[in-house]
Amino acid sequence: TDLREFIAGLPKAELHLHIEGTLEPELKFALARRNGIALEHATAEEVRASYDFDSLSSFLTVYYDSMRVLVTADDFYDLAMAYLIKAAGQNVRYAEIFFDPQAHTSRGVPFPTIIGGLRRALVDARRDLGIHGELILCFLRDFTAEHAMSTLMESLPYRDWILGVGLDSDERGNPPAKFAEVFARARAEGYLLTMHCDIDQEGTHEHIRQAVEDIRVDRIDHGSNAVERPELVEAIKERGLGLTCCPVSNGWVVDGMKGPEIVALLDAGIPVTINSDDPAYFGAYVAENYERLAADADLDRDQLVRLARNSFEVAWLSGREREQYL
Ligand code: HPA
Ligand code: ZN
Repeated sequence: TDLREFIAGLPKAELHLHIEGTLEPELKFALARRNGIALEHATAEEVRASYDFDSLSSFLTVYYDSMRVLVTADDFYDLAMAYLIKAAGQNVRYAEIFFDPQAHTSRGVPFPTIIGGLRRALVDARRDLGIHGELILCFLRDFTAEHAMSTLMESLPYRDWILGVGLDSDERGNPPAKFAEVFARARAEGYLLTMHCDIDQEGTHEHIRQAVEDIRVDRIDHGSNAVERPELVEAIKERGLGLTCCPVSNGWVVDGMKGPEIVALLDAGIPVTINSDDPAYFGAYVAENYERLAADADLDRDQLVRLARNSFEVAWLSGREREQYL
């Protein structure tokens, strides 16, 4: 509990957080009622008890199905505000928040509804709670490159509300190279670039290589399989790329939090960060991710301070705002 207080007190940035992954069962029921949508479970406890993921795809099935309750701009506002209140309470000062527009536009929810609700929550939370949030648009890699490109075009009127683009969803058979043209165009439009290289996925080392060398990303989400290839560690280090690791998520999707791998990368001088990914589904917000990793990998306070500082160092912040946190 001493360590818990220490972690709670550390100013933190969260850089790998899917806003749709913060949908707690209670809010899901409230939104379902508001929108007249029937759910298969009767209570929030029942929903939680049904979470039993053993792979990325088993998680994604539940994650996408739950999104049915997100319909109006107010729904997206309430979703984001609930996360921002929770994060601010854990001393998260700054958050770069993924959203998956294609998971909503493909159900008939217009892009402006999604981003309008999310942005309004960020503005209100910055004013009322003192937490600064920004958005990263994630493309769904199991959709076509053409669909991603048209989503990129749809985002351009909102360019000032979006820091960069990412790539998430089912990695199997969907390598970074599939989206080379989309990411080149995104960069030309002034977006920063990141991509998921999920843990222990088929082809992960080649996917990390493509993201770093071919796409030339500005960050990598997950990506800790790099530790198994010295040339990848070297390339990531040389480019000063941060990794956004999500220990509790790892524990659900593969068999373990990957503590030793995360520590080895930290020791190799790579700016590793700790994040929650999909906290409503994995049962741990960012502070609990630090706590669980600290217990699993026997981290000391210096290492925890290092991880928290890294989160500001690799954040996509202006120099002046970064200094204010460091
Ligand atoms: N990996 C891939 N896609 C996702 C994730 C993840 O961890 N969370 C939400 N979409
Ligand atoms: Zn993720």
